[in-house]
This record gives sequence, structure tokens and C-alpha cells, in this order.
Amino acid sequence: MSRSLEDQTIIITGASSGIGRAASLLLAEEGARVALAARRRERIEALAEEIRDSGGEALAVPTDVSNRVEVEALVGTTREALGPVDVLVNNAGVMPLSPLAELRTEDWERMVDVNVKGVLYALGAVLPEMLERRAGHIVNVGSLAGRRPLSGGTVYSATKFAVRALTGGIQLELSGEYGIRVTDIQPGVVDTELMDHIPSEVIHDRFDAGWQNRRKLEPRDVARAIHFALSAPQHVNVNEILVRPTDQLT
Ligand SMILES: NC(=O)c1ccc[n+]([C@@H]2O[C@H](COP(=O)([O-])OP(=O)(O)OC[C@H]3O[C@@H](n4cnc5c(N)ncnc54)[C@H](OP(=O)(O)O)[C@@H]3O)[C@@H](O)[C@H]2O)c1
Repeated sequence: MSRSLEDQTIIITGASSGIGRAASLLLAEEGARVALAARRRERIEALAEEIRDSGGEALAVPTDVSNRVEVEALVGTTREALGPVDVLVNNAGVMPLSPLAELRTEDWERMVDVNVKGVLYALGAVLPEMLERRAGHIVNVGSLAGRRPLSGGTVYSATKFAVRALTGGIQLELSGEYGIRVTDIQPGVVDTELMDHIPSEVIHDRFDAGWQNRRKLEPRDVARAIHFALSAPQHVNVNEILVRPTDQLT
């Protein structure tokens, strides 16, 4: 069977859990060489080993995406070990939801640092080579929350609105002239560790109660959307994919 991503070098940020982990496994199964980035070294090293054991090619590069120097090093290390970066999957993200009135301003700042600045640092680090090669694909994992504000998640939503705006701007500026494709993947609720870090009890309880008898997406459902965008022919620019659980209405 042909593997759709043969010969592609792909960086996946936030590869240590959830959607990033599932995407790393699927893209490696499809033949890509994957560079796995996240802060938890032991998790990405174990995942890289798992991929290599099944015949794939993977490299673990411990990285904090909110640190520009580390992100530049990630791209350099990947290029040296696996070749020029064909695809960047900007997936790392945090979602410490809380009502604005709780004034958790440190969390607001962390969301901007990881969800927005992290995306920009990675974009800035891969672009020079992509512009030169006139090829590349940027996949940003945004959110359904990037299409409408989320009560109790205003700042998180704002970061994902930013991701959507960036995606639109990349398409306008870089797709035609440079052949660089771009996709904003917008999942609804996915069963991952993301909710474990919600500091506000009010939001946590509301979320748990609301989802007790409903089925969330699995990380692999979102990985499949990422794969769909990446495996489209070069003349097809899949710019947005909104994927909700059937049980999620808004
Ligand atoms: N789950 C959902 O319902 C949902 C819905 C819509 C969108 N999303 C988006 O999907 C993406 C992935 O989230 P997930 O649901 O898979 O959650 P997750 O399981 O918590 O995964 C988040 C990933 O981001 C990484 N990360 C966090 N801070 C980082 C940093 N400073 N530097 C590098 N990596 C960092 C984490 O790794 P380390 O902790 O090891 O660094 C982890 O691998 C996020 O952008 C999220 O906003 C999720």
C-alpha cells in the first residue's frame, strides 16, 4: 500500500499527549519522518522509540515553544537529522479556562505565550527555508473556540481567533507566490489531558457535568483531519477543517 507522506519531514509540537501524539503516530504510519517536540522529554522519547520499533523514523526534541531560542534549535536539529522541514504542525497549546472575573492574569499570559507566540516562533523558524524552496505546509491546531467566544474561556478563544487570523494571512501572503499551504484545524471537544489543567472549579464542574453522557472526539479523529489536509494534492489548499463530536451542538 502506498504511504501518502513518504519523504516528508514533519515537526509536530505538543507531541507528548493527546492530538499531537495521535498525529505523530498517524503521520509516521503514513511514511513521514517526524520530529516530536514538547517539554516532557520522557514522553516524546518513548513515543519516538515506539514509532521506530514499528519501522518509522522519529526524533524527540525536548522544546518549550514559548522559548524562541529553543524553537529555533528544534528546527535546526530537525533539519540536520531528518532534512529540510516540509510540514510544521503547530499543535502545542494550553487551556487554563476561567471566568474573566477571576482575574487569573498569569494564565492569560501563558495562553498567549504558548498558543500565539509559540505558533509565531515556529512559523518564523521554518519560513526562511520554505520561502527559499517555495514549498511547505503549515498546520495550525486552532479550535472551535476560535470561531466564537467561549464563556469562561475568553482569553483562550482570543488566542484561537489569533490562530485563525494568522492562518488566513499566511494563505493570502504565502500560498500563491510561494506555494506554501496552510490549514487551521478547528476541533470541538476532544478527550485529552487539556481539561485536566483547568484551574477554575466553576468551569471544571460545568464541563464535567455537561459531558457526562456525551461522546467526545478521540485524538485520532483529529489526527485524521490533519492527515486529510496534508495528503491533498499540491494544487489543493485545505484551509479550514471544523470537526465536532456529533454530540456537540454549539
Ligand atoms: N482537547 C480539546 O477539546 C481541544 C479542542 C480544540 C482545540 N484543541 C487544541 O489542540 C491542541 C492539542 O491539545 P490536546 O487537546 O491534545 O491537549 P493535551 O493532551 O494537553 O496536549 C497539549 C500538548 O501541548 C504541549 N505543550 C503545552 N505547553 C507547551 C510548551 N510550552 N511547549 C511545548 N509544548 C507544550 C504538551 O506537552 P508538554 O506538557 O510535554 O510540554 C502537550 O503535548 C491545543 O492547541 C489545543 O488548544 C484541543
